[in-house]
Amino acid sequence: MGVEVVVEGLTKSFGKQVIWEDVSLTLPAGEISVLLGPSGTGKSVFLKTLVGLLRPDRGHIWIDGHDLANCSENKLYELRRLFGVLFQDGALFGSMNLYDNIAFPLREHTKKSESQIRQIVMEKMDLVGLVGAENKLPGEISGGMRKRAGLARALVLDPEIILFDEPDSGLDPVRTAYLNQLIVDLNAEIEATFLIVTHDINTARTVPDDIGLLFRRELVMFGPREMLLSSEEPVVRQFLNARRHGPIGMSEEKDVSELEAEAQMGHDPGALPPIPPQLMPTGNRIRRTMRPPGSWLAANGVIPPPGSFVDERGRNWLEEYPRLINAHLNGVR
Ligand SMILES: Nc1ncnc2c1ncn2[C@@H]1O[C@H](COP(=O)(O)OP(=O)(O)OP(=O)(O)O)[C@@H](O)[C@H]1O
Ligand SMILES: [Mg+2]
Repeated sequence: MGVEVVVEGLTKSFGKQVIWEDVSLTLPAGEISVLLGPSGTGKSVFLKTLVGLLRPDRGHIWIDGHDLANCSENKLYELRRLFGVLFQDGALFGSMNLYDNIAFPLREHTKKSESQIRQIVMEKMDLVGLVGAENKLPGEISGGMRKRAGLARALVLDPEIILFDEPDSGLDPVRTAYLNQLIVDLNAEIEATFLIVTHDINTARTVPDDIGLLFRRELVMFGPREMLLSSEEPVVRQFLNARRHGPIGMSEEKDVSELEAEAQMGHDPGALPPIPPQLMPTGNRIRRTMRPPGSWLAANGVIPPPGSFVDERGRNWLEEYPRLINAHLNGVR
């Protein structure tokens, strides 16, 4: 089941520009983590560093007992095969049809026969709902289909870790909802370790087990979803609730005078909104790595905002979840 990725004291700069400093976090094996942060804070640079496309200045990236940040080129090549990456734009080859795009990593990195390749490609195309579109060129399909094709390509080498760079950017809300469900279902099925960079607050609030926030060249916070969604820390609160009020300004960070003016106006940040239930896999399946709703809050004596864990059908997941687990266990037996 997936592999754990432990990042320790990671620092990256380009010339004199420090992108982020001393970033430490653990992506737990098989869990879904989301990385948030204002535009330009280095989220894409972080993903590229994790997969070894960029070398950090300092720090460690531990995977399976190897330090990806400080290993030989050969070892790096080997470790990279643990990763599947969905780049921001799908990064498909425009002159290749979807089938050949998705088959590309297999032809490049394995000695599999064309019939073995066909079997894998068709299986992954089926998984992302693209059967029938094998002969289409990337330019002939919608943005949502391109994302799913990029995802199928990221899956063909059976990765243990999948990095998604804004899988939902440019998608309409309905397609985003489908893609989020696909990501959760995929995690239930392949149990790889997921890291998703997104600007979509709804995605961040409902999909992951863990959330991290990059701001002002550092990782402000990283931890369980319930911890960040109940946090009073001003930056976390502002970002996760998509508010104007807070330390983050329009073009960059607000300066001290702006913040003082805001404080004098006596803006009350208001009550935290309810914590939504976490998105479940379809078909009454469960994710082995999912923590029961409310578990972090209960363990830390935090009372959730009223209305938390109630879905749009009025079901309360603090009660619904144990029922589902029981039904699942009975079904398995
Ligand atoms: N190869 C590079 N050489 C020099 N600077 C770079 C390079 N790649 C990224 N940067 C700089 O690093 C900073 C962070 O960029 P990055 O693309 O990671 O931001 P981001 O958080 O992904 O933003 P967005 O949310 O808009 O995608 C930017 O200032 C960018 O100009
Ligand atoms: Mg980016």
